[in-house]
Amino acid sequence: MNRIVVNADLGRQTISRHIYGHFAEHLGRCIYDGLWVGEESPIPNTRGIRTDVVEALRAVNIPNLRWPGGCFADGYHWQEGIGPRDKRPRTINFHWGNVVEDNSFGTHEFMDLCEQLGCEPYICGNVGSGSPREMAAWIEYLTFDGDSDMANLRRANGREQPWQVKWWGIGNENWGCGGFMRPEYYADLYRQFQIYVRDYSGNQITKIASGMGGPYIEGTEVLMRDVFKRGGPGVIDALCLHYYVYLREMDFSATEFGEKEWFVTLQKALEMEDSIKQHVAIMDYYDPGQHVGLIVDEWGTWYPPTPGTNPAFLYQQNTLRDALVAGLTLHIFHNYCDRVRMANLAQTVNVLQAMILTEGEKMILTPTYHVFEMFRGHQDATLLPLELKCDEYAVGDAALPAVSASASLSKEGRVLLTLCNLNPRAALDLTVELRGMNAGAVNGRILTADDMTAHNTFDQPAAVHPVPFQGARIAHGGLSVQLPAKSVVALTIN
Ligand code: AHR
Repeated sequence: MNRIVVNADLGRQTISRHIYGHFAEHLGRCIYDGLWVGEESPIPNTRGIRTDVVEALRAVNIPNLRWPGGCFADGYHWQEGIGPRDKRPRTINFHWGNVVEDNSFGTHEFMDLCEQLGCEPYICGNVGSGSPREMAAWIEYLTFDGDSDMANLRRANGREQPWQVKWWGIGNENWGCGGFMRPEYYADLYRQFQIYVRDYSGNQITKIASGMGGPYIEGTEVLMRDVFKRGGPGVIDALCLHYYVYLREMDFSATEFGEKEWFVTLQKALEMEDSIKQHVAIMDYYDPGQHVGLIVDEWGTWYPPTPGTNPAFLYQQNTLRDALVAGLTLHIFHNYCDRVRMANLAQTVNVLQAMILTEGEKMILTPTYHVFEMFRGHQDATLLPLELKCDEYAVGDAALPAVSASASLSKEGRVLLTLCNLNPRAALDLTVELRGMNAGAVNGRILTADDMTAHNTFDQPAAVHPVPFQGARIAHGGLSVQLPAKSVVALTIN
């Protein structure tokens, strides 16, 4: 018996649109090729930025973009990425394959990209190899309206008006590639650096501490105790968590796998909830008033390197399995939206669980992209509490709930109910009771395929794409849904 009760009149919390955020690092072909092709490129572009990719991302209402890393951020010196492009230094991207970085994509190009996308910039500053002075100067360069050297340098480089930058990361993965620091050492550095992260000319920065990876909670404890408890909300506004469905060491690929690997991937994706719970428990202890947000600013699948590609470039294909990972992970974020204020999929183009893949002038949208498009209506909508009873999806001795679901109410009064059937073998019948609402009409779309390894290629770009869904009908003021195996469904109910 599969049954969902949606409490349509009990919504209290907002699902921030920033949960649908993205991450673009100087890594492999994400920035170069994926987003930036240069003004001289035959690939259609606006001031060097790919038109096709911008249009695709605008179509999903991309709310924010995190840049320049990742690991890259703690080796990045922003002054190398401003001024005439032919005069910018050639540096080494030592984290990602020692490729030469010509710095042609820097601050102005990133801010232009955000303006073209209509999204908010989230900049991650350099703590690992930078200084408070360097970080302070970057913020002044970006946001100060007055007659200072940094603001005048920005003007000399072609930008008169300051930009608004609300989201500012103080380092990345300080416990790993960002400096291999003890939590206590990072907490001290954080306290020092954040002093120099200033608000100028009406700009208001959300200060984001680089938090932990996956289940490791030590750093969260130290940040909440030694930074928040001692300094208060003005000192730290959010801390982040990175959680990957990390299967790099496994013996299967992004596109060649069987049901065992399908199951393990989804099982690991569901563990995101345990991670969030552990971090939230610590945050609740020190901060019951919920001043500090949790930002999951890197998440997604991470498979073994694709044969024939540079293993440091983290290029991987994206199948229906990734669509299920995206759907159920977004549902988890919704459920913790009182604390989870932002999340950023890793990464936007050509890296890890990408939204978009490019090859020369060609571009394809991945199954993950389609989930973000189908779930768009959840952005800034009111989360509707729901109760779910469902079958198990079992493989061997292990079992997962077969269904993942989430519902929200838009400002216009429409309910969006999104559903994932994790079972690749069995369709299921689902009854949806809508408390506090009488359903008058339902429209739906579905993302599925015959094969669980189905994916889009440059020759077959629409092998996996959403189509109208006929399996939902109004029944007794609620819904009766036939949910196909291995599917993601979005239902709009009026
Ligand atoms: O997204 C790839 C890398 O994963 C990021 O650079 C780093 O922060 C994380 O370990």
